[in-house]
Amino acid sequence: MRTMTCIEDLRRTARRRVPRQFFEYADGGSYAEETLHANRADLERIRLRQRILVNVAGRSTKTTILGEPVALPLALAPIGLCGMQHGDGEILSCRAAQEAGIPFCLSTMSICSIEDVAGAVAKPFWFQLYVMKDRGFVRGLIERAAAAKCSALVLTVDLQVLGQRHRDIKNGLTVPPEMRIRNIIEIATKPTWALSIARGKRRTFGNLAGHVRGMQDVSSLAQWTNGQFDASLSWKDVEWIAGLWPGKLILKGIVDVEDARIAAKTGAAALVVSNHGGRQLDGAPSSISALPAIADAVGSSLEILFDSGVRSGQDVMRAVALGARACLSGRAFVYGLGAGGQAGVTRAIEIIRNELDVTMALTGVNSVKEIDRSVLVN
Ligand SMILES: Cc1cc2nc3c(=O)[nH]c(=O)nc-3n(C[C@H](O)[C@H](O)[C@H](O)COP(=O)(O)O)c2cc1C
Repeated sequence: MRTMTCIEDLRRTARRRVPRQFFEYADGGSYAEETLHANRADLERIRLRQRILVNVAGRSTKTTILGEPVALPLALAPIGLCGMQHGDGEILSCRAAQEAGIPFCLSTMSICSIEDVAGAVAKPFWFQLYVMKDRGFVRGLIERAAAAKCSALVLTVDLQVLGQRHRDIKNGLTVPPEMRIRNIIEIATKPTWALSIARGKRRTFGNLAGHVRGMQDVSSLAQWTNGQFDASLSWKDVEWIAGLWPGKLILKGIVDVEDARIAAKTGAAALVVSNHGGRQLDGAPSSISALPAIADAVGSSLEILFDSGVRSGQDVMRAVALGARACLSGRAFVYGLGAGGQAGVTRAIEIIRNELDVTMALTGVNSVKEIDRSVLVN
């Protein structure tokens, strides 16, 4: 892993190791991928201010997220099908995050279930909720997350309907993979991946299988899932969920100031400025371009987290400078997982942490709380 010096190295290795349908599921965005590309392009455009001869010998990347101490302003984002990038991917990623001193968020659409992960890691993790039409099932998920002592509930609010990803359709993405000739050939050429999946606990949606009445076999489970995203979701449902969840609530998927203002009145502890990594509304503004106005409008009422496009410590610096408390990492850690399992996720976090540390030094900053717009070139 030492020769993996940047997230792009992990990405290239993951592309070699993970079957195409799962690599492209992670790598791609919706429709023409305009927003996916804008997320990166707009981050790269932000220039950092080089400062010299400031004593930075005592600097630290430590901070807090929702009052909890963290080693750097970063958490691992919820990733559906994480366990298809590497067997037991959710457990391994959670362990890597906890060992590195940052939060991990488990997706509703994970392969390992809430209980699998809770039974295999040392500390509480966050749970991400998709609101399905079957509200009884949603209530059950919230109760399971509470029973597993999850430390925050991340309610994703930007997926009432699914943005189309062309590549997933062309690749015939299913969970577990359908045994078509092309897939069999793909899998046969990825032995490390195949072995990890064979040894993993599960090969389907762990939070759903066995919990959805009348849905036993995998194909009906997939059908159920596709029909379950709820287009009628509204702020009323957020109220309902806030009433059911006893802990901290985070609203994920906001890029509009008006929405952020409403979110700030729900009692949520944080919101995530996010366009789902360019996987939902194609044509939406880049997440980083939406951040400053949202931070200005509601940053004093709740914590502002940020994701979509973060691939380096420099990106974390940019987002924190523009008002984020911390960033969520999506693809950056997923590439690490595909490239090398738990060691790959550890490496991804380490790369970002080291880059942030050096970036702080070269911009003349000693602590995360000193990072503000003054570190940027206007
Ligand atoms: C493969 C993949 C699966 C994802 N699954 C979920 C999910 O199940 N729930 C969710 O809220 N967000 C999901 N997201 C969005 C991420 O949580 C996050 O918002 C996004 O990845 C951030 O952008 P980045 O990948 O550029 O860091 C997913 C993203 C990817 C790449």
